[in-house]
Amino acid sequence: MALDPFDSECFGFPMAKIEAAEGDERCSRELFREAVRRAGEIGWRHLAVRVPDGRPALAQSLERAGFFWVDATVVFERSLVGFAAEADPQIAPAAEGQLRRLQAIARGAFAQSRYQTDPHLPPEGARRLTDAWVANLWAGRADLVLVADPVHPVGFVACLFDPARRSAQIDLIAVAEEGRGRGVGRRLVLEACRHYSGRADRLEVGTQLANLGAVRLYEACGCRLARSALTFHWAAPDLRARW
Ligand SMILES: CC(C)(COP(=O)(O)OP(=O)(O)OC[C@H]1O[C@@H](n2cnc3c(N)ncnc32)[C@H](O)[C@@H]1OP(=O)(O)O)[C@@H](O)C(=O)NCCC(=O)NCCS
Repeated sequence: MALDPFDSECFGFPMAKIEAAEGDERCSRELFREAVRRAGEIGWRHLAVRVPDGRPALAQSLERAGFFWVDATVVFERSLVGFAAEADPQIAPAAEGQLRRLQAIARGAFAQSRYQTDPHLPPEGARRLTDAWVANLWAGRADLVLVADPVHPVGFVACLFDPARRSAQIDLIAVAEEGRGRGVGRRLVLEACRHYSGRADRLEVGTQLANLGAVRLYEACGCRLARSALTFHWAAPDLRARW
């Protein structure tokens, strides 16, 4: 378990993550109960843990220890080997001065994230987290930020790149509500594929299973389901009483 400084700062109270868990059902249930007890002692008020697919016993132990299910994450992948496409003139790298516009697009886009579906987390914390996430990508965490309509962006995609694994990853993609359903998301994904083709062998992207629009978008761009995971949260009694 470790404190998550980014989440803690955005929400204004200590939040931590359980990085890994192992054990049969009875043993892991005791471990999770102990984790909750220690979190209470230290003053951590929120815990998150991700359970990879095929581990139903761990998921059951978490629920018995007081955690609740918030999210099913699905990770899609596509090969970039041999990918070829013409450059799209309407998609360009983000330009100076566009950060606030991208933050506004992202703020209206992430109603299904685990921070928003958790009823014990205050909505303003989730908004701060979205703003800070985009600002971090902008400040250099992203290898690439592309916008659709370079003059007045209606959407953007931010990618990470791991040269050692020859792997590119979509960290964030969003299209403003008024611009959805017109092929903008697809063009952003395909332009990202073009950008990395020759340098990366595959593109990876994760989303929520319930995010039908994103799932359809990635499938339409040639991505296939690679793996999935369940996310559980635990909230301290005062948070549960408050929200
Ligand atoms: C997901 C998102 C980026 C899609 O952008 P978009 O510009 O509307 O998508 P497109 O118009 O390019 O659609 C691409 C494909 O996905 C399908 N699709 C897109 N949104 C859909 C929806 N809500 N329901 C069903 N299918 C959808 C389209 O039909 C299209 O498939 P087709 O080519 O086979 O017809 C956009 O809805 C969005 O910003 N959502 C909020 C942010 C978000 O969820 N981001 C992903 C988080 S990981």
